[in-house]
Amino acid sequence: MTESTHPKYRVGLIGCGLSGTTHARAYNENPSTVVVAAVDPDQANLDQFCQRFDSVQGYRTYDEMFANEDLDIVAPVLPVSINADAVVAAAKAGVSAIFCEKPIAASLQDADRMVEACLTEGVKFACGDAFRNLSQYWRAKEIFDSGDLGEIKTINLYDSTAEISGGGCQGLSLVRLFAQDADVDWVVGWVSDDPWSDDDQRMGGVIQFTNGVTAHVHEQSVAKRGIEVIAESGIFYSDHNSFRIWREVAQLTKTQPLQLEEDRDLLPQSDLFRTSYDSEGWRVTTQRTADSIQSIVDSLDHGIDPRCTGDNMRKVLEIAIGLRESHRQGHQPVKFPIQDRSLALYPRPSRWLNKKELLGESQYAETFEVIKKT
Ligand SMILES: NC(=O)c1ccc[n+]([C@@H]2O[C@H](COP(=O)([O-])OP(=O)(O)OC[C@H]3O[C@@H](n4cnc5c(N)ncnc54)[C@H](O)[C@@H]3O)[C@@H](O)[C@H]2O)c1
Repeated sequence: MTESTHPKYRVGLIGCGLSGTTHARAYNENPSTVVVAAVDPDQANLDQFCQRFDSVQGYRTYDEMFANEDLDIVAPVLPVSINADAVVAAAKAGVSAIFCEKPIAASLQDADRMVEACLTEGVKFACGDAFRNLSQYWRAKEIFDSGDLGEIKTINLYDSTAEISGGGCQGLSLVRLFAQDADVDWVVGWVSDDPWSDDDQRMGGVIQFTNGVTAHVHEQSVAKRGIEVIAESGIFYSDHNSFRIWREVAQLTKTQPLQLEEDRDLLPQSDLFRTSYDSEGWRVTTQRTADSIQSIVDSLDHGIDPRCTGDNMRKVLEIAIGLRESHRQGHQPVKFPIQDRSLALYPRPSRWLNKKELLGESQYAETFEVIKKT
């Protein structure tokens, strides 16, 4: 993490729930950012948040916050049902960057208006505390980009999540990263439950990118998790926890299989999933969240795109909808871009709505104990 020389970026958080609290911790731990304001119409959540984070001004609506605060970054960490309106309002409020949670939206037209509002207003737009933000994945991409392992040809995603958009957007974002964020030419797909439902579900299929890369989305739960990137003379595999590369050492004749050896010097092994707590009872910020915050800082410091943009998450949503549309059309290939932007894929209620409403006060409070032991 690089120390910036400018004053800290002032962050306004929208949504003081479970993930909003986790994001706020990570902003305050980053040397370049500080949370100065927060919004929540739920007075209990807002009060708890303002007690936990010093010098934060609380508001009941984001319009009130925009009218009273001079913000650099706005962080909507909200139920997905209201994410689009919040992002568009933040873009129009004249901030420099927005980092919202994922999935981006339910419908393609909502995702479109979010991306377009940020583009029109010149706002950096990131979406998702995502594995795509992990520095190890960008190091692996650099290794492929050097040409050392030949061209990437095939990607396997082993992601048997029951929600291809809500949780599966993590893996699909990585597929796009290693396919060089190329446009999709077509997809063929299937869903696990009901092709005529607009609700999120498990999905599988094939994604053909215009640059020739083919990705296989394995929908079944198998003894492998994560992403496998196969190039002409090397393979990268990660389960989002460890990161491994094998390179070709010999091929005796064209008909014999390649001999591959693991190159253990290229990527440091990690152990990202261990949960630990600090002396005040806070869950220690994960590398994924810290890297996600650093990415929005880097985008402002250096005028570059964040690692996991809103545009990326819009295209991921389009892939998921395309897999389902293919099933609806008898598994025919669906050409991209999808013309009907009214198509939607609704995240499960725990993402779409306030968790407190779904769980009830006491169970919601217990869930909070995962991030801060009382
Ligand atoms: N990246 C990840 O891995 C990950 C993990 C968990 C959750 N999420 C996402 O984070 C988002 C929030 O999840 P959560 O677990 O924090 O839910 P939550 O219900 O705990 O928090 C939502 C908060 O938003 C507040 N809110 C509702 N309407 C508002 C409004 N108009 N203005 C301001 N605040 C408002 C609620 O009162 C609540 O405090 C969801 O989109 C979810 O998909 C992402």
